[in-house]
Amino acid sequence: MDPKLTIRRANVDDVDTIFRLTAQMADRKLMLARSKYKIITMLPSYFVVEVEGEVVASGSCSVLWTDMAEICALAVHDEWQGKGVGKALVDAIIAEGKRLKLPKLITLTYQIEFFKKMGFQIGNKDSFPRKLWRECLECPKLEACDETAMFLDIGDQ
Ligand SMILES: CC(C)(COP(=O)(O)OP(=O)(O)OC[C@H]1O[C@@H](n2cnc3c(N)ncnc32)[C@H](O)[C@@H]1OP(=O)(O)O)[C@@H](O)C(=O)NCCC(=O)NCCS
Repeated sequence: MDPKLTIRRANVDDVDTIFRLTAQMADRKLMLARSKYKIITMLPSYFVVEVEGEVVASGSCSVLWTDMAEICALAVHDEWQGKGVGKALVDAIIAEGKRLKLPKLITLTYQIEFFKKMGFQIGNKDSFPRKLWRECLECPKLEACDETAMFLDIGDQ
């Protein structure tokens, strides 16, 4: 990652930027939109990447149950894509998952090749109990989900 970039946990000053970043990606149908309410109540799960005081990327580690967390709302500003920022965010979320002693990270995504590079494997949506798909229940697609479920084992081997 570019040495000018720093990765840190989000705080309330980041809410508007996270909202704008995710809304922009949602407009392009790359992810679900998040309300400010949702971002604020999930704020402790968010990480941001900052360059010279400006937030250029965000993503969250949403704990679903004792056996897994979900990588959600991963969004890198257009000008910063392809520079290792997304990888840095995923690495931070993996480290957070390990700190929490979670055995598995999952994601629902259109970015299959990116997550493969991060070590994720394609999984079967049905093997993740529906009740755990908290965000899915809020998604208008629900039964018609066209994203790919992917997972990464992060527990002690
Ligand atoms: C997907 C996204 C998070 C990736 O972040 P990024 O900062 O552009 O990716 P990085 O530069 O960290 O890439 C890491 C590796 O993945 C590869 N990669 C990134 N995006 C890729 C893609 N779409 N297809 C194939 N490979 C990709 C890079 O080439 C790099 O490979 P390398 O390590 O061999 O050089 C970012 O492009 C983004 O925000 N996209 C729009 C929103 C979105 O789709 N979010 C995902 C929601 S689940």
